[in-house]
Order: sequence, then structure tokens, then C-alpha cells
Amino acid sequence: MKKIALVPGDGIGPEVISSALRVLNAAGFDGELVEFDIGYGRWRRDGKAITDDDIERMKDCDCILFGAITTPPDPGYRSVLIRIRKELDLYANIRPLRSSRIDVIIVRENTEGLYSGLEMLGDEEARTVRVITRKGSQRIAEVACRIASERKHLTIIHKANVLKSDVLFLKTCREVAERYGIRYDDMLVDAAAYNMVIRPEMFDVMVTTNLFGDILSDEGAGIVGSLGLCASANLGDRWALFEPIHGSAPDIAGNGIANPVGAIRSAAMMLEWFGEMERAQSIHQAVDRTLSKGVKTPDLGGLCTTSEFTDAVIDEMRRA
Ligand code: NAI
Ligand code: MG
Repeated sequence: MKKIALVPGDGIGPEVISSALRVLNAAGFDGELVEFDIGYGRWRRDGKAITDDDIERMKDCDCILFGAITTPPDPGYRSVLIRIRKELDLYANIRPLRSSRIDVIIVRENTEGLYSGLEMLGDEEARTVRVITRKGSQRIAEVACRIASERKHLTIIHKANVLKSDVLFLKTCREVAERYGIRYDDMLVDAAAYNMVIRPEMFDVMVTTNLFGDILSDEGAGIVGSLGLCASANLGDRWALFEPIHGSAPDIAGNGIANPVGAIRSAAMMLEWFGEMERAQSIHQAVDRTLSKGVKTPDLGGLCTTSEFTDAVIDEMRRA
């Protein structure tokens, strides 16, 4: 039986994770769940957001299903998610964006770039080191090429004209794409940000560095229609973490109106990672049918609560 570390987290995290669990259950998935109380709520209670022991216990699980965690702008608080990504070496962040306007998978490098953690902070000058390695670029390009080889083509997104560290990223991605024999091209990140809005159909699979991927995927979520709709997988060679791309949404937390689609589709991506393609498919299709009937939470202009929407998805699964 698969062992899943469950991290409901803060704000709307527990609300959307509870929907995802109900849907997994309805799909007939049976796994062992190990719940972790980590995040900002825990930090406020006992001064620790996550411990070394939590990380060790996570490594004892197959993967993590994650809601969202609040990261306050307090210099003493280190992002829990960034720590987990680093410790479990979850180097590939896969973000599918799908709607009537766009059908793209963003493959974001998740461990280096501008999120290297190498910061030199002074009152007059502050620096963050952007780290691009051949190994890091190679392994993210491999993931992107594997995905692109089953789709149409790959676009390498970079800023190599100004950031010379991106020359290494671009060159390495091109080498891997050549080796895979896939169709590929490249584009500067600012042009890509523009084109995603104007002609999203020109993109299929996009591979990019950490910060660019972070920003472009939120932009993509805007094109899809709501942050609440989008799911992601953080993959390493041994472990994986599945999470909606939104945060803890303190502005709506506790109201029972969060859109659970991102969390539900993240759970379906987890099933795909386990090789349970049919169950995953049944979840995605039930969500598609529910949305196409106009059953929607308020972020999409609907009137449903989180649990009413989840009921509707489960009804669709039973009917199929
Ligand atoms: P956010 O994603 O939490 O919210 C942005 C806006 O989108 C808000 O108006 C929110 O109500 C709306 N929204 C987000 N998810 C929604 C959903 N499922 N249904 C309906 N509406 C939804 O981003 P924000 O406000 O910048 O960050 C809030 C907190 O979350 C911060 O502490 C931030 O650090 C943290 N955060 C955590 C992430 C994670 O755990 N992976 C990712 C992004 C932010
Ligand atoms: Mg982000």
C-alpha cells in the first residue's frame, strides 16, 4: 500500500485537502495517510514550522499531498515548502494549464536559479545569487523532453541576452532536446509572458528556470481563469509532492468557498505518478463535466461552496 504524507497546512489548505481526500476515496484509492501538522499555525503555537524529524518521517513516505502554507514576510521564518523541495530534491515542478484558451505544461526548475538561498543582505546593498548548473539544467531538460516527446513541442524560456547564466541553461536544454530528437525552439521570458496572453496556442511544453517558472505559471493560472483551478507536481527521482499552485488565501479562509479543483487535480496527478491512470482520468473527467455544467465556486463567478462542488464531482464519478 502506498504511504502518503498529508500536509493540510494553513488557511484554505485543510479545506481543499479535505475535498481532495473525499474524491480520492470516491475513486476507490486506498492508501495509508500520515498527517503532518506543519506550517505557520504550528510556528505560532510552538515556534517551529517544521522539524528535522518531520523531514525524516516524510522521507519514509512515498509522496506528499500538500494543501498550502502561509509564509509571513518575517525574516526569521523560512519557507517550509522551499525546505521540503530542497531536502527531498524535488527538482521538477510540473504545472499543467488547461482551459478553452490554453493547453500548456510548464516545467519549472525547482531547486536553483534565484531561489538558491545565497543571499548577502546589507542596509545599503542586498544581493541574491542566481545559480545555474549544468546538472540542474540537464535534469530539468530531461523531464521536459520526456513530456514533450508525448506532446507537440518544447519551448525553452530564458533571458540569455542579459543574464549570462542563462546561456548555460539554454545551451544545455538545446543539447538535451537534440538528443531526444523532439521539435523545440526558445523564447525570451518577457516575450513569452506577452505571447501567453496574446497567442497561448503557440506554446505546448515550456521549460524554464525557477523564478521565471514561478511567475509564468501564475500568469498561466490567470489565463485559465483562477488560481484555484491549477494543480502541480514537484518531482524528484525518489519522492514527489503534489499541491495546488495557490497559497493559503487568508482573505477567504474559513468561509468554505475555496475552489478545490487545484487540490483535486493535484491528487489525480499523484495517482498518475503511482501509475493509476484510469482512476486519475476518472477524476479529471468528473471535474471537467462538473465545471462544464456551470457548477462553480465564487472565484469563477458561481455560488457553490467547497463541499457542494466536491459533492457534484463525486456524483459525476458515480454516474460515469
Ligand atoms: P494566494 O494564492 O493564497 O491567494 C491569491 C488570491 O487568489 C486571493 O485573493 C485568494 O483568495 C485567491 N485564491 C487562491 N486560491 C484560491 C482558491 N482555491 N479558491 C478561490 N480563490 C483562491 O496568494 P497570496 O495571497 O499571495 O498568499 C497568501 C499566503 O499563502 C502567503 O502567506 C503566501 O506566502 C502563501 N503561499 C503559499 C503557497 C504554497 O503553500 N504553495 C503558494 C503561494 C502563496
Ligand atoms: Mg508561486
